[in-house]
Amino acid sequence: MTAKISSFEDYQREYAHSVTDPEGFWAEQAKRFQWQKPWRRVLKWNFRTPDVKWFVGGRLNITENCLDRHLESRGNQTALIWEPNDPGRRARKITYKQLYGLVCQFANALKAQGVKKGDRVCIYMPMTPELAIATLACARIGAVHSVVFAGFSAVSLADRIKDAQAKVVITSDYNARGPKNIPVKKVVDEALALGCDSIEHVIVHQNTGDAIKMEPGRDIWWHDAVKGRRKSGKATVVNSEDMLFILYTSGSTGKPKGVVHTHGGYMVYTEYSFRNVFQYEDGDIYWCTADIGWITGHSYIVYGPLLAGATSMMFEGVPTYPNAGRFWDIIQRHKVNIFYTAPTAIRALMAAGDAWVKNRRMPSLRVLGTVGEPINEEAWHWYNERVGKKHCPIVDTWWQTETGGIMISPLAGITPLKPCYATLPLPGIQPCLVDANGHEINGNDVEGMLCIKYPWPAIIRTTYGDHERCRQTYFATFKNKYFTGDGARRDADGMYRIIGRVDDVINVSGHRIGTAEVEDAINKTPHVVESAVVGFPHEIKGQGIYAYVITSAPISDAAAFKQTVLDTVVREIGPIAKPDKIQLVPGLPKTRSGKIMRRILRKIAEGDTGNLGDISTLLNPEVVDIIKTGAKSI
Ligand code: WT7
Repeated sequence: MTAKISSFEDYQREYAHSVTDPEGFWAEQAKRFQWQKPWRRVLKWNFRTPDVKWFVGGRLNITENCLDRHLESRGNQTALIWEPNDPGRRARKITYKQLYGLVCQFANALKAQGVKKGDRVCIYMPMTPELAIATLACARIGAVHSVVFAGFSAVSLADRIKDAQAKVVITSDYNARGPKNIPVKKVVDEALALGCDSIEHVIVHQNTGDAIKMEPGRDIWWHDAVKGRRKSGKATVVNSEDMLFILYTSGSTGKPKGVVHTHGGYMVYTEYSFRNVFQYEDGDIYWCTADIGWITGHSYIVYGPLLAGATSMMFEGVPTYPNAGRFWDIIQRHKVNIFYTAPTAIRALMAAGDAWVKNRRMPSLRVLGTVGEPINEEAWHWYNERVGKKHCPIVDTWWQTETGGIMISPLAGITPLKPCYATLPLPGIQPCLVDANGHEINGNDVEGMLCIKYPWPAIIRTTYGDHERCRQTYFATFKNKYFTGDGARRDADGMYRIIGRVDDVINVSGHRIGTAEVEDAINKTPHVVESAVVGFPHEIKGQGIYAYVITSAPISDAAAFKQTVLDTVVREIGPIAKPDKIQLVPGLPKTRSGKIMRRILRKIAEGDTGNLGDISTLLNPEVVDIIKTGAKSI
């Protein structure tokens, strides 16, 4: 393990260096990796078009740095520990040498299926080691992976396959999740029936072994695909700026967009941030509870930890199966040192009662982390006291799919903590707050919209197939700045607290959901004329989904109708986007230009109907009272 920032002064020095000489700073970080050809230029950028390139001219493969580079020094060290859903089954441990062999073998199988450098491969799998292996195998041959969270519906999967024009889908038979056995392959079949013409093959990993249908000529079992394939082989050398992956994420408008990350910069940044934020020490067992279907799993289960030569644990199941003590059992049994989870999980376990964690010793724990949404004060203290027994620093890590890695966070045990604050930017990150007119807000004890002024190596490069959308979404709001979509405050000490999204994106259990996406889904329900979706505070999920729905005719059986709405959303997006509350309304408050006044709907959903502000300019102010009254019985 290479050096880490080791004191607050060290952090301050490194931060200052990263601002005065960003190129020198990142060149130094990049040197610890294996490059097949050194870069000619560290950084070339403008935020106008935008065009950002790191380590220009450099040639490498990220998996060579995750695997080959460690073979000599830590070949027999465990790279991945897999904890199965079923607590009665033994965990599986895979060493760096074994992982290298498995990744090479599957990479060779992909090649034999006709996958070439630059081809897109969609991965729709539960949390098994094969998910990590498939991901790395794509990268190894220079193919672009697009991992789709296995909870998304067939319609969502088909949209993503079509957008990326993927050639192959890699999937599993079933997903063992808590007491459920979810038919994953069947969802792929349904998606492909929706006209995914680019798909040539489906590779199916046998996970639970329950029966599925295989389509002759199109589908092939994983175990057949790897038969006779060599467990070694050179990685395909690619350019720093060649695409590594696409990951779809929701925005305030339209369908989810494919965020693109590239080999060189993503590699340097995920390793640097992993090592420093978590202060990983050789031999530590590190566990991030995210799913590889989200960016957290990409950067901090697979790439960051493996690049750093860490032992990374992945868990197939859910926090409450077979009971709310599961996380703590796993921590005890595997002697987990670093534990990284989401506030929603903490709140759910907190609600399950203290008994599960109170008298449990977890002496191995040294660092705790959270990610994905703002953590509330109560959950922070519970995490600190009950889980960390007051001796584990909590790193509240703020970042996004688009940032590729952690941007604002304490460095465990090195920089100061403040409950509910992501605190200070990592070296190389230059955040600022901007007011509604686009002016930077200087000084401290202020609030504004969070932007980043200077590129970092893992910044989004484009949105797949639609660069203009990338420009519009992130670089057009404020000149020369990357706009995060979040509001934040900077306290008197210059520490950042993330308040939440300022756009039409809601954060449900740490999952990012666009209100427009949910509305589009709801509008597909028979008899729905129009709908409006807003977030509201939810005790466990952080935010819940509140849907106002207008129907074409009065509904006699409201309960049955609402169920149809839910079924439609599940079919179009997946269970994560299911509204928590549905209110049937005769109209929606609109401005004279026809825009829905979401501000009013948000207030009503929050239960705050006292002061709705000026509604006299509405086209239909009379509807507000009707909605207010109706909301009381929801
Ligand atoms: C949005 C990004 C970062 C990986 C998982 C989510 C919110 C993320 C925090 C945090 C407060 C946070 C923001 C951000 N968010 N981390 N520590 N405190 N809010 O990635 O799906 O791209 O969502 O999650 O609103 O913009 P994502």
